[in-house]
Amino acid sequence: MSKPLKHYLQFKDFSREEYDYLFGRTRWIKEKFKRYEPYHPLFDRTLVMIFEKASTRTRLSFEAGMFQLGGSAIYLNTRDSQLGRGEPVEDAAQVISRMSDVVMIRTFEQDIVERFAANSRVPVINGLTNEYHPCQIMADIYTYIERHGSIQGKTVAWIGDSNNVCNTWLQAAEVLDFNVHVSTPPGYEVEPERAGIYGTDHFEEFADPMEAARGADIITTDVWTSMGFEAENEERMRDFADFQVDADMMRVANPDAVFMHCLPAHRGEEVSAEVIDGPQSVVWDEAENRLHAQKALLEYLLLGQVKPD
Ligand code: CP
Ligand code: NVA
Repeated sequence: MSKPLKHYLQFKDFSREEYDYLFGRTRWIKEKFKRYEPYHPLFDRTLVMIFEKASTRTRLSFEAGMFQLGGSAIYLNTRDSQLGRGEPVEDAAQVISRMSDVVMIRTFEQDIVERFAANSRVPVINGLTNEYHPCQIMADIYTYIERHGSIQGKTVAWIGDSNNVCNTWLQAAEVLDFNVHVSTPPGYEVEPERAGIYGTDHFEEFADPMEAARGADIITTDVWTSMGFEAENEERMRDFADFQVDADMMRVANPDAVFMHCLPAHRGEEVSAEVIDGPQSVVWDEAENRLHAQKALLEYLLLGQVKPD
C-alpha cells in the first residue's frame, strides 16, 4: 500500500507527537550539518517553489535545504509563469505535481493552497498565506526549545497586528499547550474563525500591550502592514503607533524572556532597534532554524518518520 499523502497547510495539520518527532529530527539534522557531514536522503527528488509574494528567507531556506538533502529545487513566480495569466490553480496543481515530488507555495488566500493540495499528487507546504505561516512558527518554537527546553505552559505575548504569524502562534498554542497573550489596536483583533482556533483556553486578549507582555516568556511582533495589505499602510502607521515592542516592554516580561520576529523587521515601527539588536533578541537563530526545521519537514513529508541511527 502506498504511503498516505500528507500536506502541511496550517500548523494544526500535525499533532503534538509529530512536532516532538520533527523537533528532535531538526536537532539531529542541524548537528549533522554543523559537522559538515553530508546527508542526502532526498537524492533525485525535486521541490517546486511557487511564489506569488516576495521572499528572502523562505526561498533561501527551502532551496538551500533541498540541495543539502541531495535533491533539487525549482523556483516559479507569478510574473514568469502561467500562474499569473489566469491558469486555474487546480490545473497548475495537476501539472506541477506530475513533475515534482513536493511543492511549496507562498500566496494570498489560504483557499489557494487548499485547492492546490486537493488536486496535487505530492505533498504541499504552505510557505505563507494571508492567514498562516506554519513553517515560521515551527522554526520559532524549535528556537525556543533549543534554548529553554519545552514550550508547554509558557506564555507568548504577541504585540501588534493579528496577522498570519499571530494566527499560527494561536494554533500552535492549542497543539503544544502554551498560552498566547495578544494585544492589538482596536479594530485589528484576532478573528478566531480566520485563525482556525476553537477553544479560548490558550488565548487571552489585552487592550494594553504592557499587560500582555507582563511575565511573558516570549515577546514577539511582526510588521504592521503585511504583504498584500499595502494600501492600508498609512492608516496602519497611525493605528499601531502605541504598539511598539521597546525596552520598557521587555523589562516587564520574565527576566529570561526572548524577543522574536519572523523578519523582515522595521526598526522604529513594530520594534525598537535597542530590542531587536539587544541581548534578548533571537531573531538570527529563528531565521537560521528555518533551514534546519524545513529540512526535517521535507524529509518527513517525503519519507515519513526516519529511525535515528
Ligand atoms: N520570515 C519570512 O518568511 O521571511 P521571507 O518573507 O523573507 O521569506
Ligand atoms: N506578516 C508578514 C510576514 C512576512 C514573513 C507578511 O505576511 O507580510
